[in-house]
Amino acid sequence: MRAFVVKELAHPSKITLTPNYPEPSKVGDDEVLVDIYSSGVNFFDILQSQGKYQNQPALPFILGSEFAGRIAKNSPIPKGSSFKPGDRVFGAAQGAYSEKAVVKAKSLLPLPDALTYDQGAGLFVTWPTSYEALVGRAQVKPGEWVLVTAAAGGVGIAAVQIAKGLGAKVIAAAGSKDKLDVAVKYGGADYAVDYTQKDWNQQVLKITGGKGVDVIYDPVGLIRDSLKCIAWKGRALVIGFAGGEIEKIPMNLVLLKNISIVGLHWGAYTLKEPAHIPSVWKGLLDLLASGIVKPVIYSEVYPLERLGEALGALERRETWGKVIIRIQEEKEKPKL
Ligand SMILES: NC(=O)c1ccc[n+]([C@@H]2O[C@H](COP(=O)([O-])OP(=O)(O)OC[C@H]3O[C@@H](n4cnc5c(N)ncnc54)[C@H](OP(=O)(O)O)[C@@H]3O)[C@@H](O)[C@H]2O)c1
Repeated sequence: MRAFVVKELAHPSKITLTPNYPEPSKVGDDEVLVDIYSSGVNFFDILQSQGKYQNQPALPFILGSEFAGRIAKNSPIPKGSSFKPGDRVFGAAQGAYSEKAVVKAKSLLPLPDALTYDQGAGLFVTWPTSYEALVGRAQVKPGEWVLVTAAAGGVGIAAVQIAKGLGAKVIAAAGSKDKLDVAVKYGGADYAVDYTQKDWNQQVLKITGGKGVDVIYDPVGLIRDSLKCIAWKGRALVIGFAGGEIEKIPMNLVLLKNISIVGLHWGAYTLKEPAHIPSVWKGLLDLLASGIVKPVIYSEVYPLERLGEALGALERRETWGKVIIRIQEEKEKPKL
């Protein structure tokens, strides 16, 4: 099978596709074999291929995590599982940049009929992060103001759509005119502000009539700057540090406006609060099925051979939405 195999740690631009890698031969009692059609690109792939990520498999390993595909026709099915061969699924497992992967059946989700494999491939990490942050942690209410930074990025554009779906008024902040256009056109943001401009937080304040935003959703590391335009009793969600720096916040800013700074680490729910995960997916899958929200995919879908280019474009901040790798076209739709 074709797979993007890391044999020696290196930047992904230096790694080429392995055309004939052995297919997985062992499928455990609780696992299924999945034919992968599309995979989602994540920044941590770049770190992992260089040995700089928190989860490092032993060499050689197949890169990639998020995917969408079908349970293979010849896959065994674990006892008690409701899946069957041929089911359309999405999920995440090490080795998603490959035509086949062995995956724990319990970790898979059914791909809604309304979504293509490209749309489903980028759901598993990004969407529950934004949903749980806005719904579970910040408890956004209809009519509230929500500011989203990096609003055209993977988690950002999902947050814009989910906040709109919750009835909030959304201000998108991003680093270029093109990205702001994406947040408005595909995300449905009500207002857009370029955060490379010095007075961007003053512009946000003005949009809200001087009140400030009720909720800040920040995957960049712009909490300190954003607190200048937060409302009384506002909630600031700490999602990530795409800007590369972990901020230090003077605590008097928290006290002065009665605000809450709220963290969200979606990956940790598997260990800390697994019972909560199904309710997040239920809420999200209902939203996705209703058509109120729709995954936004970067305009260029890359073939597996050009994975290095796709990761390079993500690294240089040239992309928006979710970057997708088309692993293979679906050859036949199983009649099951
Ligand atoms: N807390 C969680 O559970 C969780 C879950 C998933 C992801 N995350 C984190 O969320 C962050 C964003 O993830 P994503 O998937 O949305 O990434 P992404 O699609 O690559 O978007 C990141 C955006 O951040 C902005 N940015 C600002 N400074 C940057 C810099 N120095 N380098 C790169 N980008 C920069 C860019 O937008 P502009 O060009 O508009 O500035 C870029 O589009 C990451 O730090 C990730 O680790 C956290």
